[in-house]
Amino acid sequence: MPTHTFILNGKQVRVDVEDDVRLLWVLRDVLGVTGPKYGCGLDVCKACTCHINGKAFNPCSVPVSDIKPSDEITTIEGLPASAGKELHPMQEAWLEMDVAQCGYCQPGQIMAAVALVREAQAAGREISDADLDGIRNVCRCGTYPRIRQAIQQGAAQMSP
Ligand code: FES
Ligand code: FES
Repeated sequence: MPTHTFILNGKQVRVDVEDDVRLLWVLRDVLGVTGPKYGCGLDVCKACTCHINGKAFNPCSVPVSDIKPSDEITTIEGLPASAGKELHPMQEAWLEMDVAQCGYCQPGQIMAAVALVREAQAAGREISDADLDGIRNVCRCGTYPRIRQAIQQGAAQMSP
């Protein structure tokens, strides 16, 4: 069986799985990292959103063979360390705004939010309503208004 290696939450990991296994199953079933959730498996619901080299992506739709040894994958489990804190400022904002209902979509929402804010900050601007409108992560519980407020609050605490 082929061996694949990449950086997961700051540590190099190695897995023996077939090339066409999607990264979400490698994370969840092989490596036991269950923050990224399975919703659709089709790059639509965004419940599995993680970061690859700092950008949001959906591992349900990426075969593990597409991941390079130098690629840095961050899941919600590794997000606090990326800010050098116990909780990332976006997670703190989420708690302050009491965003979650059932919680299922929330890791993906937070990962999408952080990537979006980083992108806006890198471009030297604040997060806009158009940015927030562009988030495609589905929440069956309809927590969208609180998500928008939390992103604004979290963005204010994230250093560019
Ligand atoms: S499970 Fe990945 S986008 Fe739906
Ligand atoms: S909080 Fe339930 S799906 Fe979003």
